[in-house]
Amino acid sequence: MAEPRFLFLDDSIVPWSEGTVHVSSAAFKFGSSVFEGLRGYWNDADQDMYLFRMDEHMDRLTFSQRFMRFDEIYMPEFVTEKTLEVIRANGFKGENVHIMTTAYLKGGGGQGVTGPVGLAITAQERPRTAKITSGVSAQVSSWMRIPDNAMPMRVKCNANYHNGRLATVQANADGYDTAIFLNSRGKVSEGPGMCFFIVRDGQPITPSTSNDILESITRTTVLQLLAEMGTPAIERDVDRSEIMAADEAFFCGTAWEVTPVTMIDRMSVGTGALGAVTKRLQEAYFDVCSGLSGSHAEWRMPVYGNAAAKAAE
Ligand SMILES: Cc1ncc(COP(=O)(O)O)c(C=O)c1O
Repeated sequence: MAEPRFLFLDDSIVPWSEGTVHVSSAAFKFGSSVFEGLRGYWNDADQDMYLFRMDEHMDRLTFSQRFMRFDEIYMPEFVTEKTLEVIRANGFKGENVHIMTTAYLKGGGGQGVTGPVGLAITAQERPRTAKITSGVSAQVSSWMRIPDNAMPMRVKCNANYHNGRLATVQANADGYDTAIFLNSRGKVSEGPGMCFFIVRDGQPITPSTSNDILESITRTTVLQLLAEMGTPAIERDVDRSEIMAADEAFFCGTAWEVTPVTMIDRMSVGTGALGAVTKRLQEAYFDVCSGLSGSHAEWRMPVYGNAAAKAAE
């Protein structure tokens, strides 16, 4: 896939090759940064791209910056405007993109406690892979999910992600696609970068937000879509052994969308194939992300404004 041509860094759009941060920055040395990963979905009929739940992502970016007590806060309006500029400057069309908006400590002093804040925004093409239908295998990790009173898992600070990286590296080394974390109470938490659901006897179940998980925007979306489908999910503690009793399991997140988990610890989940509830949910999710049927228009922000321009003709 070709490299994007442009990104945003601190105060301007610059060529991709100039997207550099100094090695003395606290972000580089200590991982002192917070971010949002979001997606832009191409809609062929509208000849437009839609940012999915941009406002919710921007609210969480503000919360993350405040929570980590950054001296300066990049506000939602500014980050949104610059994100749109980056996509338009690259002229992305006909493909889905993944966007990263990162607020980071530029200075190097004081062990990264304080200092000037910078902003980086990148967008890159990211098509779906075949695993979205065939499913992934997961290992219940021997790495524990970081407890909320050690690092705030509901905040998207980059340093949290080493926990997920270690679990993924271990899972890959052992022949699995990814991992499922248990928390300090031994309850199911989430995946390295995605939330987790099971379905038992047609009932969707997911760990509640007090299980050291990110308060995921996709999880909230999925909860709403499942309710609209007539199969509302239960949010509660989930035991390790319960996931082995599930008929279906899936991950959800901006990057993972709705991905079936067909094998856990080398045991098939249900039939070992995409299940009926997961399939219906996937269809509903892809529909709202790309705006195929027009439902939940409030979740989509147009990038180019082509559909609105056509409607006004
Ligand atoms: C740890 C973790 N859990 C869950 C998710 C899913 O969150 P969202 O749906 O807001 O992207 C993410 C990010 O994608 C994550 O990093």
